[in-house]
Amino acid sequence: MSPLFSLFLLHIIVSAAGAQLQPHYYSKSCPKAEAVVRQVMKKALIREPRSLASVMRFQFHDCFVNGCDASLLLDDTPTMLGEKLALANINSLRSYEVVDEVKEALEKVCPGIVSCADIIIMASKDAVALTGGPDWKVKLGRLDSLSASQEASDNVMPSPRANASFLIDLFGKFNLSVKDLVALSGSHSIGQARCFSIMFRLYNQSGTGRPDPVIDPKFRGKLNKLCPLNVDQNVTGDLDATPVVFDNQYFKDLVAGRGFLNSDQTLFTFPETRAFVQLFSRDQHEFFKAFVEGMIKMGDLQVEQQGEVRRNCRVVNSGLPVTPRT
Ligand code: HEM
Ligand SMILES: *[C@@H]1O[C@H](CO)[C@@H](O)[C@H](O)[C@H]1NC(C)=O
Ligand SMILES: *[C@@H]1O[C@H](CO)[C@@H](O)[C@H](O)[C@H]1NC(C)=O
Ligand SMILES: *[C@@H]1O[C@H](CO)[C@@H](O)[C@H](O)[C@H]1NC(C)=O
Ligand SMILES: *[C@@H]1O[C@H](CO)[C@@H](O)[C@H](O)[C@H]1NC(C)=O
Repeated sequence: MSPLFSLFLLHIIVSAAGAQLQPHYYSKSCPKAEAVVRQVMKKALIREPRSLASVMRFQFHDCFVNGCDASLLLDDTPTMLGEKLALANINSLRSYEVVDEVKEALEKVCPGIVSCADIIIMASKDAVALTGGPDWKVKLGRLDSLSASQEASDNVMPSPRANASFLIDLFGKFNLSVKDLVALSGSHSIGQARCFSIMFRLYNQSGTGRPDPVIDPKFRGKLNKLCPLNVDQNVTGDLDATPVVFDNQYFKDLVAGRGFLNSDQTLFTFPETRAFVQLFSRDQHEFFKAFVEGMIKMGDLQVEQQGEVRRNCRVVNSGLPVTPRT
């Protein structure tokens, strides 16, 4: 692990406790905020069901990089390499326009009040609730960052090749438990991933020149058809057998050796995480409960820094080029 990486994580953990977030933050300044977000998300669901998964993923990719501050949403400027083109995000994160739509709707009702960082948190919750998952009260009151850092994202966001012990360590640095890790991975109950993310697993796992031996053979046959060696690696496949329904099918798939990503299947392979996979595969209620806890904890990740409520989630209000943080 690079020194930069550990320094950054230390900072995030130390300041996490200082956040002053609360459920009724906008009850006076913008009482309709949550209803407006939900309305736009409902429209997005009808237009393209997958976009809810894509939006939900923003919470992970925003909160793990300098806290939940919508740094993820800033477009690159001539003087700043933003996070959108970071390794884990390029050609992969999508549906930024749904957040834009939420922001526009909110600016009409209460201009300059609701932060983009809070929009990500509310929209992620709605994505889960609208696809059949749990609904919960989110804490609000985050500010939007004045800059973004591609390097910070590259230093933190895990690869789909990661194994469970690496992921346990990574999540632990954010004060997220093994149970949180397994439950939050259950977000892969909705959405899709590219062949790009599994080619190594299908044809050259850990440099062995062979496929990952733990994939169920019939499922592997299916993946080989979806992603042959010469495939356009942007072709996508479903992350679980019910990709538009938020349920515990993901965990049933892992138990059966039908996890899509290596980082998914490894949660069943490793003894440290297997018991939680088994528990969630049997008991959807336990999964939902643990998932909500994990999302709230992840939403609490903050760093002390200056912020603002952006008018447009893609640019800072001053419009001036911002300097990268690292
Ligand atoms: C545990 C470590 C994790 C790893 C290694 C990981 C990795 C990935 C990868 C590689 C993809 C597909 C990217 C592509 O091929 O374009 C993906 C998709 C997705 N991830 Fe994760 N992820 C992790 C945890 C999470 C968490 C914590 C959340 C949210 C709480 C999340 C939400 C999603 C969603 C919803 C999708 C589907 C997005 C879509 O269909 O557009 N992931 N993840
Ligand atoms: C897990 O991944 C890490 C980092 O890539 C690696 O160093 C370690 O050897 C792996 N552990 C096992 C048991 O495969
Ligand atoms: C880490 O988690 C524990 C247990 O949930 C909690 O008591 C503690 O305050 C957390 N620490 C930080 C810095 O968030
Ligand atoms: C498999 O990966 C190893 C190590 O990354 C590499 O040396 C080897 O050439 C690869 N084999 C194939 C068939 O791609
Ligand atoms: C996926 O598509 C993008 C944009 O069209 C392209 O730049 C990229 O090279 C493609 N990626 C892969 C892995 O084929």
